[in-house]
Amino acid sequence: MSFTVTVQPSGRSFQVSRDEPILAAAIRAGVGLPYGCKDGACGSCKSRLLEGRVIHGAHQAGALSAAEAEAGWTLTCCAAAQTDLVIEARTVAGAGEIPVRKMPVRVTRIDKPTPDVAVLTLQLPANDALRFQPGQYIEFILQGNLRRSYSMANSPLAQSDKPSVELHIRHTPGGVFTDAVFSTMKEKDILRMEGPFGTFFLREDSAKPMVLLASGTGFAPIKAIIEHMQIKGIQRQAVLYWGCRSKVNLYQHEWALEAASKMAHLTYVPVLSEPQAEDAWTGRTGFVHHAVMRDFPDLSAHQVYACGAPIMVSSAQHDFTLTCGLPADEFYADAFTSEADKHGNTE
Ligand SMILES: Cc1cc2nc3c(=O)[nH]c(=O)nc-3n(C[C@H](O)[C@H](O)[C@H](O)COP(=O)(O)OP(=O)(O)OC[C@H]3O[C@@H](n4cnc5c(N)ncnc54)[C@H](O)[C@@H]3O)c2cc1C
Ligand code: FES
Repeated sequence: MSFTVTVQPSGRSFQVSRDEPILAAAIRAGVGLPYGCKDGACGSCKSRLLEGRVIHGAHQAGALSAAEAEAGWTLTCCAAAQTDLVIEARTVAGAGEIPVRKMPVRVTRIDKPTPDVAVLTLQLPANDALRFQPGQYIEFILQGNLRRSYSMANSPLAQSDKPSVELHIRHTPGGVFTDAVFSTMKEKDILRMEGPFGTFFLREDSAKPMVLLASGTGFAPIKAIIEHMQIKGIQRQAVLYWGCRSKVNLYQHEWALEAASKMAHLTYVPVLSEPQAEDAWTGRTGFVHHAVMRDFPDLSAHQVYACGAPIMVSSAQHDFTLTCGLPADEFYADAFTSEADKHGNTE
């Protein structure tokens, strides 16, 4: 049995099976609804249910509260249709155009610039470059159909010689996938992945100045965006704020310095929250999004691209829109939610 979902105001519609998440059907149909984690944790897919009835699967209260559900809001990633539906959601230009594919990939390189970050280079099947938008992510399909998401750190245009993607993976001790990356994974291993996913990517149709905000390995998709701007000669003003605990955690500091020296319109501001004595750090300190607010008390004419720890992303969204006048629809983000976040507070 299937139902029709109509999206307003675009008027686009697609079919969804009973018990299938609305978002999964939209991705299959190439309808670009906004989303991030696909798993009820980040809230990026929150949309208004105008007509019809859904059943929500497990999700975090922070992504959709009982009061919001009561008031007619829904998370498309974990809501299953029980009738035909009409939902209100902006459709994201460019999001549904690239088909999602499953493919095997070979690990060709594992670098460990710091003890807890691995930079993986994955080779795609020969002559089969992955089409994606700079900022999007892939999912590894693990045993037992577990999935883990990682953002591409290279521009899609940087694949000309050999189809490949670069990923930046932080070790989460006790984690299913990253424990394996930091113990048994070796070059030539074959992994299975699916992608591209996500609506966090550079909006190339805008000329607004940008704040590019990263914490930890949230630098990965931001690096992809910067590399893409470099290759395409995009001249928009951009300031990169990269927040880490101490200097060693700025695992591609030299890359960022070099990019800023080559791109006249890019400024790089590293921010450390707990600089160590041996860092002899004379740069910015504190919470990375506070550094942005000090430099840009007025963000009303900006776009912000934020990626990394969920607490950094949600604090930046809250403070930038409420205090600095950033228009709510000019905040683009991927929060790196994990199993711990998903199981921390479910309804
Ligand atoms: C859109 C998106 C993009 C991402 N991109 C990146 C990226 O580019 N780089 C990156 O480093 N990360 C990224 N992440 C995070 C990444 O997907 C993983 O969540 C992370 O690497 C941990 O995976 P894991 O399998 O090692 O840990 P998991 O097995 O998911 O465990 C994570 C933590 O949760 C704990 N845990 C597991 N199960 C439970 C439970 N039931 N209850 C409570 N605690 C539990 C574990 O002990 C561990 O500490 C992204 C996430 C999203 C949503
Ligand atoms: S995409 Fe639905 S809550 Fe994250």
